[in-house]
Amino acid sequence: MSKILSILAIFLSLYSFGLSENNQANNNSRESTGGAQTLEDILKRQNGEIVDYDFRKNALGPMGENSSTTIPLGTLGLTSDAEIFRQLRYNEANINVSSKTAASEILVQDSGMSWLTMREGPLLQYGGLALIGMIALLSFFYLVRGRIPVEEGLSGITIERFKPVERFAHWLLASSFILLGLTGILTLFGRTFLIPIIGHETFSIIAIGSKWIHNNVSWAFMLSLVIIFVFWVVHNIPTKLDIKWILKGGGIFSAHSHPSARKFNAGQKLIFWVVIILGTSVSASGLSLLFPFEFPMFAATFAKLNSIGITGLLGMDPLPTNLLPHEEMQLSQIWHSIVAFIMMAVIIAHIYIGSVGMVGAYDAMGSGQVDVNWAKQHHDLWEEEVSNQKPSKDDKIITPAE
Ligand code: HEM
Repeated sequence: MSKILSILAIFLSLYSFGLSENNQANNNSRESTGGAQTLEDILKRQNGEIVDYDFRKNALGPMGENSSTTIPLGTLGLTSDAEIFRQLRYNEANINVSSKTAASEILVQDSGMSWLTMREGPLLQYGGLALIGMIALLSFFYLVRGRIPVEEGLSGITIERFKPVERFAHWLLASSFILLGLTGILTLFGRTFLIPIIGHETFSIIAIGSKWIHNNVSWAFMLSLVIIFVFWVVHNIPTKLDIKWILKGGGIFSAHSHPSARKFNAGQKLIFWVVIILGTSVSASGLSLLFPFEFPMFAATFAKLNSIGITGLLGMDPLPTNLLPHEEMQLSQIWHSIVAFIMMAVIIAHIYIGSVGMVGAYDAMGSGQVDVNWAKQHHDLWEEEVSNQKPSKDDKIITPAE
């Protein structure tokens, strides 16, 4: 008898376990939540996984139907509050606003959350890492290699490397870029790192000042970008000589191995094109941010990339081409910061080599005059060209140093 009872007990417990499993499954099904999100959806979202929200998009309620005044509660309309919010969220609601700007009819847009997560997460981490990494790399290089010397020693004879107008354009570009970089970093990192230290009020003053400087100094940056392009583009067209220069590592890793170069070597050409191309891109996305919703650029760019097949080649799904005005702004901000971080990392290396990293380099942009031996070592073909030029009567190409 006891055997029969225990078999019965096992059977019952197995049966009830099955029932609870079933209940669990039912609780997790869409029907059990009345078509709303399930526990599974919530857990997926919390784990950062992609949730298919079609069940929301497809549950917008009756659209464009007038409510009857004769049915019970009819004047309250046929659509529930939840449905109205979903209609707003998926931009299907028939709304009318008094301010007719591109963005004013969009009352809810949830891409803002992924933008914020990206801005306060990977953008800060990888951006900060790129800058600190570059400074660490240069410090290591300095410890190993020290300052790159003028191997033959300074001759005391100088030749003109950059005219005053070229130096003016360079320093306008440099000072505006540095101001933009510093104020940009304050704006991006301030909320996370400065507010806990200096408080909201003090940070607010810094943030307002930074924004003012950033918005206004940007014009000087764009102007100087155009000027240096016009002045230096002819000297920066890649040639076969650049390949040899690159293969020899520019001669910076060992003494007495300097490859030939004209006015600009391959490393400098790279800096020039990084500044021109990324500078143009950072300016375009900056203008898009400066005049909100006026210059959307991503939908058109994505459509181009999709049509030339780049996204397909990279194994990516087609990029979205139907972007909300807010999404355009969010993408502009993220792109603006990524490009600016790459530029800043490259420019830190440029500043190093143009100042402490190489003896005699700074003079080129400081006084405009460089020592002949420096020129022979780093830009031998350019030095030959300048020295062979027949000086006109008021041309002081070669001048003894004071
Ligand atoms: C404040 C620190 C800076 C210093 C000390 C510095 C120094 C120099 C020097 C010495 C040269 C001439 C190199 C030569 O004789 O061949 C030069 C060129 C150049 N600089 Fe700067 N610079 C600074 C900042 C910047 C910034 C912020 C930018 C751009 C955003 C920039 C862009 C350029 C470009 C495009 C060239 C011509 C290509 C090259 O030589 O690499 N510079 N700089």
